[in-house]
Amino acid sequence: MRVLVTGASGQIGSYVLERFADECDALGVDLRDCSIKELKDLVIQGDLRDYEFVRNVVKDVNAVIHLAAQVSVENSWNDPVYDAENNVIATINLLKACSDYGVERFVYVSSAAVYGNPQYVPIDEKHPKSPISPYGVSKLAGEYYCKVFSDRIHTVIIRPFNVFSARMDPNNPYSGVITKFISRVKQKLPPVIYGDGKQTRDFVHVRDVADFIEMALKRGKNGEAYNVGTGRETSILELAEIIMEIGGINGEPVFDKPRKGDIRRSCADISKARKLGFEPKTDLGRDLKGILEFT
Ligand SMILES: NC(=O)c1ccc[n+]([C@@H]2O[C@H](COP(=O)([O-])OP(=O)(O)OC[C@H]3O[C@@H](n4cnc5c(N)ncnc54)[C@H](O)[C@@H]3O)[C@@H](O)[C@H]2O)c1
Repeated sequence: MRVLVTGASGQIGSYVLERFADECDALGVDLRDCSIKELKDLVIQGDLRDYEFVRNVVKDVNAVIHLAAQVSVENSWNDPVYDAENNVIATINLLKACSDYGVERFVYVSSAAVYGNPQYVPIDEKHPKSPISPYGVSKLAGEYYCKVFSDRIHTVIIRPFNVFSARMDPNNPYSGVITKFISRVKQKLPPVIYGDGKQTRDFVHVRDVADFIEMALKRGKNGEAYNVGTGRETSILELAEIIMEIGGINGEPVFDKPRKGDIRRSCADISKARKLGFEPKTDLGRDLKGILEFT
């Protein structure tokens, strides 16, 4: 089986490519060169907004895992057209080329951002979709394209919550808080919390996300969407305390003004993913310790 991973030079894509490269014939594509030595030769540089490029890279593959995207919420406000081109047009290009070439499976990595401000937690897949940024809208538009193309190609949608790993980008909105806290603690400074710290997130280690992507590729139902998270809510205050303890910082975090538009609570209902065999192994204390030592 030949698997194409898009966004392979990115945080999640690099782990996913690593996983598939161990098991089958895998290759990646990305706008950027891949900084991981072992993956460099497997990643073709190119732009998924270019349909000719897309046709060439999908023509001999059996499956596509589509992770490439513009992921910054802030940039999506600054340049919503660029966001839509990379998140919507690139997805349409892939779906069209894959259906023309008879690619058997397509996994679209969407985002929990499609839900917007949660009306209830834990958030299940039926929760209303009400994105609050151009980024959330473009990820949701990608989902709708996948749904209509599911008549022609087996398509599975995944909605990750807050993914973290040793390869986090400090500017990544999902994991930014972790990299910022780690960077402060490394300077022997306490983390800065915006607001009261009681806002919650579902932090999931990239290993779990890669595991679930593999399950979804093999067993995901056509046209269905699946959350991927841990099902556990962690407050920003708890996160700060864990990182301070690992970094040997005593005392209290610093509290600053709340940020406008910060979502109060977020947590995935992962019952549907569990039915495919998913069991998250994320352990925040252990995994963050590993990252703090590694980075
Ligand atoms: N990180 C998270 O917590 C999280 C949560 C929910 C959803 N997601 C989704 O997971 C996917 C991967 O996220 P990530 O955190 O690894 O982000 P990332 O920014 O590290 O990786 C995305 C990669 O896509 C590439 N890319 C963007 N536009 C492209 C184009 N036109 N052609 C080719 N490559 C292009 C970028 O160069 C980048 O390397 C994204 O689709 C994102 O929406 C991430």
